[in-house]
Parts: sequence; C-alpha cells; structure tokens
Amino acid sequence: MSRKTWASVDDYIVDALFEADPALDAVLATNHDQGLPAIDVSPAQGKLLSLLVRIQGAKKILEIGTLGGYSTIWMARALPVGGKVVTLELDPHHATVARSNFERGGVSERVQLRVGPALQSLAALSTEDAGPFDLIFIDADKPNNPHYLSWAMRLSRPGTAIVCDNVIRDGAVLDDDGHDADVEGPRAAFSFIGSDKRLDGTAIQTVGAKGYDGFAIAIVD
Ligand code: SAH
Ligand code: DHB
Ligand code: MG
Repeated sequence: MSRKTWASVDDYIVDALFEADPALDAVLATNHDQGLPAIDVSPAQGKLLSLLVRIQGAKKILEIGTLGGYSTIWMARALPVGGKVVTLELDPHHATVARSNFERGGVSERVQLRVGPALQSLAALSTEDAGPFDLIFIDADKPNNPHYLSWAMRLSRPGTAIVCDNVIRDGAVLDDDGHDADVEGPRAAFSFIGSDKRLDGTAIQTVGAKGYDGFAIAIVD
C-alpha cells in the first residue's frame, strides 16, 4: 500500500462524509499563498479533533502550535457557545496569517492567539491561573514535547484530554540512537505518558494525506 493510496483514501473519506467547506479550503489556500509549510492536520484529522472536542464536552481548549490556525478552526467550531481556544504560536508571520484565517473562519471571538515561545506563554497562562483546560493539543516544535506535557499537567484537571501530534514519524520513533531531536521529542513524550501515574494514554498510528504518523492521546486521572 503506497502513500498515494493513503492520500486517495483520505480524499474518499472527505468526499463521502464531509460537507463542502469553502472557508476551510480558503484557509489552506491562504496558508500556501503566504508561504506557510503545509504541515496542518489533514481534513480527516481536523474532523477527529472536532469530534474529540464534542466527546470531551470541552469548553476550554489549549493548542500549542497554531501555524495558520487550520486545526484551531476545526476545534473552535466544535465548541459550545461561550467556549474558548487559547492557541500559542512562535512565528509572528504565522500568527498574522492565522488571525486573518480566524476572521474568515468566523471563530475570532472564540480564539485567543498568543505570540511568542510557547514555554513563555505557558508560564504566563499558569501565572494568570488561565487553566484548567478541558482539551490540550500539542503540535509545535517536537523536541519540547516533554516540557509541553509537563505544562499541560499543570494546566489540567482530572479528566482533561491531552492529544500530541506526530509521535510516530514514519516509524522513526523506534530509533533509539538519540541523534534526531525531532525523534527524541516523541520518544520523550512516550516515556512521559508511560511513567506519569496521573496519565492514562495510548498512541494510534495513522496513514493518510500526511503519510505515516500518529497521535498520542491521554486522559489526566
Ligand atoms: N496545529 C497546526 C500545525 C502546527 S505546525 C495545524 O494543524 O494547523 C507547528 C507550529 O508550531 C508552527 O507554526 C511553528 O512556528 C510553531 N512553533 C515552533 N516552535 C514553537 C515554539 N517554541 N513556540 C510556539 N510555537 C512554535
Ligand atoms: C511537521 C510538523 C507537524 O506538526 C506535522 O504535523 C507534520 C510535519 C514537520 O515539522 O515536519
Ligand atoms: Mg502536527
């Protein structure tokens, strides 16, 4: 089975199950025109995030790694009235594009975007007592994953769901030679989730439009 088949099956899933969504299509077109890397979640993954928001009954969401806000919009749209997403982004250009996408996606009122290194924004959120969040989506620089998980624990409550993207990386997660920081991040995420007694988690391998990767999902006890 090839990557091409995975991408075609993702198209099939979208055609069979999703309503046409010109606003979300326009977000991806804007991201491309503005030179953002095409590393947003896929449509099927975005829909999964929105279903998780609903399954969880989440009202307060924290996202680490905004890019152009594609995943943010999927999650924000699934919120009940009064729900909020706080999303953290390092790159000011990505943040500017994301803000315009939030307008276009009709979610500006529900999204607070904080620009700067996520570790600083997380410390500020903690100081401000901004938590606890109901759902936390970690999707920024992979080497910081264990630090993001650590902050996620401080900004959570029993029952908070934590989702971490890109933990399989074409199977590279098995490489234990310690040379690739982008692989060490996911490995550290596994050891964090595996060893923290308050976390009950799993990881699901995925194939699709973005190749072979996976999510880790955990609940705080
Ligand atoms: N969640 C997005 C994709 C995020 S891509 C989506 O699915 O649509 C990862 C993002 O994390 C990039 O925009 C990158 O600029 C940002 N990033 C990288 N390092 C960061 C850091 N230290 N703090 C905050 N954001 C960071
Ligand atoms: C990359 C980052 C992501 O968040 C992703 O989902 C896919 C790829 C990357 O940095 O290559
Ligand atoms: Mg990702």
